[in-house]
Amino acid sequence: MKVVVTGGAGFIGANLCRELVRRRAHVVVLDDLSTGRSSNLDGIDVELRVHSVLDRDAVMEACAGADSVVHLAAVPSVQRSLLDPRRSHDVNVTGTLEVLEAANATGAHVVIASSSSVYGLNPVLPKSEEMTCRPASPYASSKLAAESYALSFQHCFGLPCTVFRFFNVFGPHQLPGHPYAAVVPSFIWAALRGEPLVVFGDGNQSRDFTFVGSVVDVLADCVTRTVSCAGPVNLAFGTRTSLNDLIFMLSALLGRELDVVHHPVRNGDIRHSQASTAALRELFPYIHRVSLEEALCRTIEWMEALVTAEISRSSA
Ligand SMILES: NC(=O)c1ccc[n+]([C@@H]2O[C@H](COP(=O)([O-])OP(=O)(O)OC[C@H]3O[C@@H](n4cnc5c(N)ncnc54)[C@H](O)[C@@H]3O)[C@@H](O)[C@H]2O)c1
Repeated sequence: MKVVVTGGAGFIGANLCRELVRRRAHVVVLDDLSTGRSSNLDGIDVELRVHSVLDRDAVMEACAGADSVVHLAAVPSVQRSLLDPRRSHDVNVTGTLEVLEAANATGAHVVIASSSSVYGLNPVLPKSEEMTCRPASPYASSKLAAESYALSFQHCFGLPCTVFRFFNVFGPHQLPGHPYAAVVPSFIWAALRGEPLVVFGDGNQSRDFTFVGSVVDVLADCVTRTVSCAGPVNLAFGTRTSLNDLIFMLSALLGRELDVVHHPVRNGDIRHSQASTAALRELFPYIHRVSLEEALCRTIEWMEALVTAEISRSSA
């Protein structure tokens, strides 16, 4: 089968491409390499097309003859959206519309990457898909708009699609060391380099951390079985870990105390997050959850290789 992965050179995309190629799919990646890297795709047989999802012709051409399109391309950070809300809107909303129109024209099934951030200021836990969304950032608003476009295309035009709300995905290929890096790679990167871990707030905020391996298993299964769902689906396993507990676990895994510095809470960040998993379990009953401890071990292993490469580069 032919699968188009927009944003395929990014963190989740590169992991997904590996899994799809392992399942013998013909994979076409459409990525403008703004945050992704072509080297993330080294060693796997994919066709990389360097274009923006805002380029209508490029999206149309990539989607021609595709069985499925997994749409991951986005400006993926809350903090980036505070600096430039219009860019988040253009890429995340208009870009999604381009993908939906192309898929609708070519007859492809679509998988959309939304985010737990859409629940925003609604304090109820766990987050069930039916609850009111109260976005707390332009990023969250853009994701809510994108998912509602996809579901309206499904309703009005019969476009087969599934919208997933991802919750704090982490694992290999997620880059640390930049101002918008996610919390898990930032902590591990700092710990491996002997630097203090930066915590925004008191560290009691909690997240439903999800290993990328489990996420790509669900996405690949969704594509393989062309699963379609009339409402959004949380893609996480219903766990809740505070940042303080995460630091405790990392300290135990690395076998040493870790220095921590506290900075003020960031605008746009939410306090707690935890998925309700009923919809995911019904659609994908056989998906295996990798434990947080094992997932952290695999991420540390990947990041150690990155740190070693950096040290040998700087000493060359
Ligand atoms: N990582 C998470 O925890 C998480 C949580 C919720 C939602 N998501 C969503 O999952 C998707 C993938 O996120 P990720 O963590 O892999 O981020 P990422 O930054 O690693 O990947 C995004 C990819 O999209 C590409 N891209 C950006 N703008 C583009 C454009 N205009 N045209 C084509 N490609 C473009 C980037 O170059 C990059 O390769 C995003 O839609 C993100 O919003 C991620």
